[in-house]
Amino acid sequence: MTWGAWIREGGEVEPSIYAADFRRLGEQVDELLGAGCRIFHFDCGDGHFVPPVTIGPVVLRSIAPAIRAAGGILDCHLMVSDPAHHLEEFASSGAHSVTFHVEAAGDPAAVAEHARSHGLAVGLAFNPETQPDRAAEAARAAGAELVLCMSIHPGYSGQVFMPAALDRIAEVAHLVDVPVQVDGGVGESNAHAIREAGATILVAGSAVFGAPEPAAAYRRLAGS
Ligand code: DX5
Ligand code: ZN
Repeated sequence: MTWGAWIREGGEVEPSIYAADFRRLGEQVDELLGAGCRIFHFDCGDGHFVPPVTIGPVVLRSIAPAIRAAGGILDCHLMVSDPAHHLEEFASSGAHSVTFHVEAAGDPAAVAEHARSHGLAVGLAFNPETQPDRAAEAARAAGAELVLCMSIHPGYSGQVFMPAALDRIAEVAHLVDVPVQVDGGVGESNAHAIREAGATILVAGSAVFGAPEPAAAYRRLAGS
């Protein structure tokens, strides 16, 4: 199963684990599963492609069994300079999908092939400085099943959505026939505009985990 089968009618909201309260991680994951959340976004930053080292396979392994047992999906956003190097470990740690950056992958088709050989679905991400047509072309070449349009400079949760992302979402959505995911600064105030622009998968870090009740915030964002 891959992205086509995972996305429910009306689209998806993916809570970004990076923004969780790690002291209460298991509890927060359970609350979100109970609220109907099925796809979780997992951000790995290597301190090179993006400034911070974020979270990696050790944390993934701690939550994957519970998420998988509930029928959930782990969507891993690789903000790393050498995505191919990490694929095997992400697969063995419980990932369903990896999304790597066009700016990092010298040969996106080869990285994608490598990912698929480990049973991973593939997404292709692009940064605010990268032209949507370059991302669309790389996504096609890689056979990516999802395109991730960054609406912030990747690295940290809690940044402000860049308004110029709306045109970039619309442009890339027009160029590809796979779902468009948006990551960075997504919340209740802009979710409607982001969906209108053509995105079907919204990543939300601080809008979910920064809320007093993450499960309620998830439900509001998901419109459920
Ligand atoms: C940071 C990550 C995002 C981040 C989103 O670059 O890729 O997934 O956790 O957090 P918010 O929704 O707070 O911008
Ligand atoms: Zn992300």
